[in-house]
Amino acid sequence: MMKRIKDYLSGQPQNDVVVKGWVRTKRGNKNVAFIALNDGSTINNIQVVCDLAKFDEALMKQITTGACLCVRGDLVPSMGSGQAVEVQAREIEIYGTADPESYPLQKKGHSMEFLREIAHLRPRTNTFGAVLRIRHAMAFAIHKFFNDKGFYYLHTPLITASDCEGAGEMFQVTTLDLDNLPRTEEGKIDYSQDFFGRQTSLTVSGQLEGELGATALGSIYTFGPTFRAENSNTPRHLAEFWMVEPEMAFYDVNDLMDLEEEFIKYLVQYALDNCQDDLAFLNKMIDPELIERLKSVVSTEFVRLTYTEGIKILEASGQKFEFPVSWGVDLQSEHERYLVEKHFGKPVILTDYPKDIKAFYMKQNDDGKTVRGTDVLFPKIGEIIGGSEREASLEKLNRRIAELKMDTTNLWWYIDTRRFGTCPHSGFGLGFERLLLFVTGMSNIRDVIPFPRTPKTAEF
Ligand code: 4AD
Ligand code: MG
Repeated sequence: MMKRIKDYLSGQPQNDVVVKGWVRTKRGNKNVAFIALNDGSTINNIQVVCDLAKFDEALMKQITTGACLCVRGDLVPSMGSGQAVEVQAREIEIYGTADPESYPLQKKGHSMEFLREIAHLRPRTNTFGAVLRIRHAMAFAIHKFFNDKGFYYLHTPLITASDCEGAGEMFQVTTLDLDNLPRTEEGKIDYSQDFFGRQTSLTVSGQLEGELGATALGSIYTFGPTFRAENSNTPRHLAEFWMVEPEMAFYDVNDLMDLEEEFIKYLVQYALDNCQDDLAFLNKMIDPELIERLKSVVSTEFVRLTYTEGIKILEASGQKFEFPVSWGVDLQSEHERYLVEKHFGKPVILTDYPKDIKAFYMKQNDDGKTVRGTDVLFPKIGEIIGGSEREASLEKLNRRIAELKMDTTNLWWYIDTRRFGTCPHSGFGLGFERLLLFVTGMSNIRDVIPFPRTPKTAEF
């Protein structure tokens, strides 16, 4: 099997090794060159030592930052500090050069804004290498967590005719000729002639289909891209983001909150155990409190509080908020962060929100005003999870749908779950990139996904 730099760095000295990777730096003197080579398997570079008497000068000149090399030599104990082993090179093949005049990733540090403009190359930087490896580890841990608990991975569709959250923030999917739209007799667009014979969009959430899975398989999760055409230019919103959505039959709101808390703690602990080098790098370069914060979340009990109690705390805070608070308003990130960072100093699960600021499917409380929704609020992030116990009563669900004047033509199958063998059930959605903001300490959501989609940007 082909060995990678990570394997060599943690292994024993040996003769006749082959290392392949991209040059991070080259330094040295007239007798010897030291090349730091990285292949993405770890944040750490391997040092390649070249005795210049044995190498052609023209070849050595072409070895510059960004070039791709195949090096044959011996893995020997290193003379220098900073690494246990290094490669004494015998033979170097240059796979590809990188002209120093035009290769944008030279040794100096670059701003995150600049790196977004070269998103095709930024995975080659230390920061993005670390973030992308952690992203992978978190995706793997999500599957492991649910698989170990007996949840089934259900693939929910990306193209849909329903709007789960009812916010109308959907990207339309059509093959109609936009320059020549077919019209009905009333002059409306005739979607019966569209590809699916109806109006369709990219999904904002896999939940509705997730509920179909949970009411058959018991406990399921879906994990995939979701799309929101909301014009929010903030460090926490993407137009295309990944969401993890478990849905469980026979869970009430308390079982739900237990799972939410256990799940996030598991993921953070998994990162602490499995991504040590990358976290140490990010802690040093991006956020000096990162590892401390991760450890503290794993070891503290989250606060559980009703929305009504939360509003009271905010009103009594004497704090001047940009958006004023009173019972009934949707909480802004400044309010969420006040509760989490200033008031409690730990994650908060807020429950029992006013029904008018939450989606139609949430279980209605007896007070007629609130629903069993839960938002998990995190330091630096604000809302990281949104979930709820679902309304299981056909009558109550239908009443709410009527109150909201929702069009049910595309929801009949969802309503059927309440007609046939309805059951108490709950579920939540974790924004995968919001989790990654927390775990990496990065401050902009555009920098924890390889190729971000936001208003007016869809390059790469
Ligand atoms: O709170 P939301 O809108 O909930 C739902 O979509 C439910 N159907 C989930 C469920 O119960 N199965 O979104 C869930 C989470 C939020 O808490 C947030 O972390 C993330 O998705 N999120 C976004 N992340 C990045 N960019 C956006 N525009 C996001 N909108 C929501
Ligand atoms: Mg939400």
